[in-house]
Parts: sequence; C-alpha cells; structure tokens
Amino acid sequence: MNRLPQTNRIHVAEVVTRDGFQSEPQFIPTEDKIALIDLMSTAGYAAIEVTSFTSPRAIPMLADAGAVFAGITRNPAVEYIALIPNARGAERALQARVDAFNLVMSISEAHNQANLRMGREQSFGQLQEVIRLAEANKVPVNVSLSTSFGCSLAGAIAPDDVLHWARRFADLGVRGISLCDTTGMANPVAVGALCQRARKAFPTLQITLHFHNTRGMGLANVVTAVQAGIRRFDASLGGLGGCPYAPGATGNICTEELVHMLDLMGYDTGMNLELLLQGSAQLEHLVGRTIPSQLLRAGPVL
Ligand code: COA
Ligand code: ZN
Repeated sequence: MNRLPQTNRIHVAEVVTRDGFQSEPQFIPTEDKIALIDLMSTAGYAAIEVTSFTSPRAIPMLADAGAVFAGITRNPAVEYIALIPNARGAERALQARVDAFNLVMSISEAHNQANLRMGREQSFGQLQEVIRLAEANKVPVNVSLSTSFGCSLAGAIAPDDVLHWARRFADLGVRGISLCDTTGMANPVAVGALCQRARKAFPTLQITLHFHNTRGMGLANVVTAVQAGIRRFDASLGGLGGCPYAPGATGNICTEELVHMLDLMGYDTGMNLELLLQGSAQLEHLVGRTIPSQLLRAGPVL
C-alpha cells in the first residue's frame, strides 16, 4: 500500500447548493442554482456537491436535482458530485451522469433513523448494493459518515464506532470517506485524534473532513485536521448549511473563510478568493438575508 505523499495542496469541495440550500425555507429557482454552480465552476474547486437525489418529500428544495445536473456547464477540472441516501437515488444519479457518488449514513443510530428512516444495518445493506451499482458503472464512491463527532439526538459518539463503520465501507472498496461533524460538536483535540487514527487505519483512502461551525469551532478544527495531514475539506459558500433532520444544526464552515485562512497559512488551495466573495455576495440576494460569512463583511487581510 502506498501512503499518499504529503503536500501543501488542499482540495476544497463546495457544498452550498446541497448542504447549504437543503434547509432554506424559500425554494431557490433551478436557474439560480445552475447560475451559481456555473460561476463556482471557475473558482478552482476540486469538487462541487451539486445536489442530492433524496426523496422530494424529505427535501423539497432539491426536488429539481436532475434538472440542475442537466443545466450546468461542466468544467472538466471539477468533479460534480451528488449526495445519495438509497438505491432509488443512485439510479436517478446515474441517469444524471454524476461524476461521483457521495453516500450518506450516520454513526448515530438515532440520527440515521431521523434522517434516513431506517437503522444503520439497513442503510449499510442498501448502500452495499449502491456501491456494486457504482462499481459496475465505473463511478467512484465516497461515504459520508454523519455525526462522527457527536449527535444532538444521541450525545457522544465513540471514535471506535466511527472507525468500525469506516472499515466496513473501506472493505467494500470505496474511494474515500468523509468524517462529518453534522451538528458542530467536534473540538480540535477530538479532531486531531480521530484524523490521526483514520489516516493510520486507512492510508490509501481519501479522507475528507466536513465541519459545521455551529459552536464556533469550525476553523479551529480545520487547523488541527491539516496538522494531522488531512488535505480535503467540504465547505459552504457564505457559511450556509444544516441538516433539517438534526435539531439545532446550522451552517457549514464558510468556504471563503476556509480558503482565506489556509492561503494565509501557506497552503495551496488553488482557489480564486475574489470570485468566492462575489458568489457569496450573490448568495445573500438569493436567500434574502444576511449570511454567516464574516469575511464578506470584513474583507480579506491585505
Ligand atoms: N428519490 C426519489 N424518490 C424517492 C427516493 C429517492 N432517492 N427514495 C424514496 N423515494 C420515494 C419513493 O419512491 C416513495 O414514493 P411513493 O410514495 O410515491 O411511492 C417515497 O419516496 C417513500 O419511499 P420510502 O422508501 O418509503 O422512503 P422513505 O419515505 O422512508 O424515505 C429516504 C427514505 C432516505 C429516501 C428519505 O428519508 C430521504 O430522502 N432522506 C434524505 C435525508 C437527507 O438528505 N438529509 C440531509 C442530508 S444529511
Ligand atoms: Zn453537513
């Protein structure tokens, strides 16, 4: 097994049109979603999580997933991903020609029941089928492990449980896993410890960290994750976001703040910060209220 070489290159995945939009109260028109994704497609992202192929009754905001995929102009340098909860979602995603699947399951049994209306074993069984389907269609698979650092329904989550489920998916041949702090309960010490264990246990997997800034610890968690060797992060433009099935969930870490901080620290994000700020300003008009981004208010450090 080859350990991936450590570089300063950071891969950023944008999740605003999925995690960011899914709990917005007012439907955002399909053409506005497409225009935002097209603008972001030139900003230097490794990936854009365009939407999710979930039940339209569960997430009405993303009922237009197929139309959004059909409408965007793809930049070959960007991977266009969709979140997928079950087999029906995977079939719809294949029809939409998504570049990669992001499957989702919670480490917390209570959150898995609330979010996906089934137990973890049942989710795993369905996702196993989805992984086979993806393999047959040569589509790479990432698995997002929600509530990896704590759950607002179930409380503390044992790191051993996270590694157990990561191992089961790794054994099915997935390309990567995301450790998701769905309700912003991670702290820098817990993040450093879990990242080190995960990198050691899965030296060839792509490991992504997905933080929410619910309790103000988001960017501090990023710092310990990069120090532990993590190079892949999800973030949401403007800091929008939150799971509608997790009480108290709020926005993801903010993309422009993540990029601004990591650039200042000497990491190579390859991102166009000016374009991110432009997109973030447009987003404020789209959702019709002030968004969490502090950088949008203050402007970059000179
Ligand atoms: N896409 C479209 N329709 C879907 C679907 C999918 N992925 N999965 C299920 N459906 C439809 C079924 O066809 C069925 O429709 P019908 O009533 O017209 O026959 C209906 O939804 C119910 O199907 P069922 O299998 O009983 O699903 P469910 O109601 O138990 O919902 C999930 C299960 C997983 C699909 C649903 O809970 C969901 O989409 N959750 C997503 C949660 C999410 O994205 N959270 C935020 C991200 S972490
Ligand atoms: Zn999230």
